[in-house]
Amino acid sequence: MLALFVAALLILIVVLILAFIFTGFITDFLGAPFVPTSSKIIDETLKRANLKKGKVFIELGSGDGRVVREAVRQFKVNGTGIEINPFLLVFSKLIAKLSNVSVKYESKNLFSVDLSNTDYIFLFLLPRTLKKLGEVNLKKCKKGSLIICHGFKLPGWEEKLVDKIDRKTFPTYFYQK
Ligand SMILES: C[S@@+](CC[C@H](N)C(=O)[O-])C[C@H]1O[C@@H](n2cnc3c(N)ncnc32)[C@H](O)[C@@H]1O
Repeated sequence: MLALFVAALLILIVVLILAFIFTGFITDFLGAPFVPTSSKIIDETLKRANLKKGKVFIELGSGDGRVVREAVRQFKVNGTGIEINPFLLVFSKLIAKLSNVSVKYESKNLFSVDLSNTDYIFLFLLPRTLKKLGEVNLKKCKKGSLIICHGFKLPGWEEKLVDKIDRKTFPTYFYQK
């Protein structure tokens, strides 16, 4: 009986690991793999963005939810994280609940999000994903909104660049619509 239980548990663990790897491949194909931004960079970037209390902050591809969670915790913005990987979503919701931070996480494809009412948009995505977003979705975002583009430039938005944090590996670019 115990052997059966252990075997079932092992099978469950293997299935979960395989599902996690598989969803990783899918999200990579859809937009970007999961690579978390470090706490130090989050703090520096959010401070530089000069976030205002009560404004709408959205993170497209929120991973484990850390960036939007910090934006809400430190600056009291109205924050939402959009993530397609169900494992990361569950984890994000759990951490937000445990740390008592009121942040919303939604299971969505980032290309289907309405950005017309958003003040800050945080992106850490592959250049090909940014290009597509910049050509279509971001064109529809509110005038004056700040697009915080971590890691890579937003192709075609050079004229809207208002600030930059230089770093050896991943710089951060700030664009004002
Ligand atoms: C490089 S990670 C960044 C995570 C987080 N923003 C951070 O800075 O720590 C990119 C995230 O985007 C998610 N992603 C990729 N394609 C997506 C899509 N089409 N819709 C929603 N999320 C997506 C991935 O699952 C991954 O968690």
